[in-house]
Amino acid sequence: MVLVTGGGGGIGSEIVRQYARQGAAVGVVDRSPEVANALVSTLAAEGCKVHFAAADVGNYADCEAACRSVVAALGPVDTLINNAGISPKHAGLPSPIWQMEPAEWLQVMDVNLNSVFNFTRLLAPGMVQRRFGRIVSMSSVAGKAYLDIVAAHYSTTKAGLIGLTRHLAGELGPHGITVNALAPGRVDTPMVAGAPREANEAVIAVTPLRRLGKPVEVADACLFLTSDQSSFITGQVIDVAGGWLMT
Ligand SMILES: NC(=O)c1ccc[n+]([C@@H]2O[C@H](COP(=O)([O-])OP(=O)(O)OC[C@H]3O[C@@H](n4cnc5c(N)ncnc54)[C@H](O)[C@@H]3O)[C@@H](O)[C@H]2O)c1
Repeated sequence: MVLVTGGGGGIGSEIVRQYARQGAAVGVVDRSPEVANALVSTLAAEGCKVHFAAADVGNYADCEAACRSVVAALGPVDTLINNAGISPKHAGLPSPIWQMEPAEWLQVMDVNLNSVFNFTRLLAPGMVQRRFGRIVSMSSVAGKAYLDIVAAHYSTTKAGLIGLTRHLAGELGPHGITVNALAPGRVDTPMVAGAPREANEAVIAVTPLRRLGKPVEVADACLFLTSDQSSFITGQVIDVAGGWLMT
């Protein structure tokens, strides 16, 4: 059974669709019931096994309740996809450090990084007990290289996820659990839709494949990292970026 955080929209919803249509039971955790409910009812109407649990992934008690709800509905979680993330902008632009509100810094730490601690802490014990697990977290090329289109809080959390991924791969590997991360480049989702057109065009100009990524292309990489075809891959960060930055 798969649990996807931030599974209601953007890349997360595509990951949910792919797993569900391949026959996996999928727990969708999102703070936004409107989008998530629409996705879950469409998939349920197709005969897929999906369950929605509302949660703010930055809040530990919410995460605990969401895990309980998903496990009660669908059974034990063996695949955890830590996808939820935010990248706050102001008038479409990242704040310089001296204008960043301390509350916004903490919110990004909670949603992008602490959420991964929350879900891993809650779900790893079951994986350890069953001696099998797959964990994939959504980092970003912004966690590996300086990008002036995101703010300091965002790149800090995405770099933190890479450290956490490597640590957890070492700690959980002996228990049969692989832990990897994806580093998408610019992907066409609601997160980037709010950016000025020139920002996307500038990225496309320096991306060898000369376009934005599609959510399904990130989902494909995610499914690979939890499939039998990647059973000896752990502690890795895979760019899905059309060759942008090649970090
Ligand atoms: N889109 C890109 O270009 C891009 C590039 C690199 C990395 N990423 C990463 O990929 C992941 C998905 O990004 P996206 O573009 O699909 O974003 P998005 O904004 O389109 O979707 C994010 C989803 O997460 C949910 N979410 C946000 N905050 C939440 C919270 N506190 N609790 C629960 N759910 C919450 C939203 O409701 C939404 O369904 C993020 O971690 C993002 O940082 C995106």
